[in-house]
Amino acid sequence: MSRHEKIQRITAPEIYARKGQKKIVSLTAYTAPMAALLDPHADFLLVGDSVGMVLHGMTSTVGVTLEMMIMHGKAVMRGAMRSMVVVDLPFGTYESGPQKAFESSARLLCETGCQAVKVEACEGMPETIDYLVKRGIPVMGHVGLRPQATNVDGGFRAKGRSAAERERVIAEARAVDAAGAFAIVVEGVASDLADEITAAVKAPTIGIGASPNCDGQILVTDDMLGLFEWTPKFVRRYASLRETIDKAVAHYAEDVHSGHFPGQAEIYTLRAK
Ligand code: KIV
Repeated sequence: MSRHEKIQRITAPEIYARKGQKKIVSLTAYTAPMAALLDPHADFLLVGDSVGMVLHGMTSTVGVTLEMMIMHGKAVMRGAMRSMVVVDLPFGTYESGPQKAFESSARLLCETGCQAVKVEACEGMPETIDYLVKRGIPVMGHVGLRPQATNVDGGFRAKGRSAAERERVIAEARAVDAAGAFAIVVEGVASDLADEITAAVKAPTIGIGASPNCDGQILVTDDMLGLFEWTPKFVRRYASLRETIDKAVAHYAEDVHSGHFPGQAEIYTLRAK
């Protein structure tokens, strides 16, 4: 590729323009090879802070650091050529105010080359989103079940069970939308609440455990590929890679023990000159 040829990735305005149009397809990605596999099929790839739980064995996303997000963001940018790449701002790197959020976001954009950041809609977030967008940083919001709030919520709990909670989630979505988010992830809410949010906001909604009527859908890739024994109710498994890997590794172990691996085709032989 010459230096004048630019990789044409899907952009934040293009995602925003998809409201009510063709559904938006998105998945999480944390590594270069997986990003390359997902890239032809996804509109955007999210380097989610779920990486802490999925790849690093953490029990929540709370301990994920900016350095981890930068490392995985760089890897995904190397693997994906056309999908938009969004990276999560991890817990503790943006909630205290717009200036801190700007500094963390600028590091993510400058050091990884990603095009946007995602924030969970906690207190004060509309002001922060407005501040970031006005300074050139596209922001995706995240409402409903907010994994970074697991310690306050007492676990990963679906949102909108009471009238007051429904009102609060809708108000958060409206505020994030008015502040300039180009898309809003809606996680873990009853489908009628997700539909109400989708109707109430101008930005496209991206559902996860939400509703088929959202403007797009996202899943954690490792969940939909069947890499975990347990997955939440809203996950559809499109493959059973856990079983495939188990069988393949058992077969390899058997071949090593029996001396069938490596075979003639898998060894080097020195040719005489
Ligand atoms: O971190 C993540 O993977 C997410 C998605 C589940 C939306 O926020």
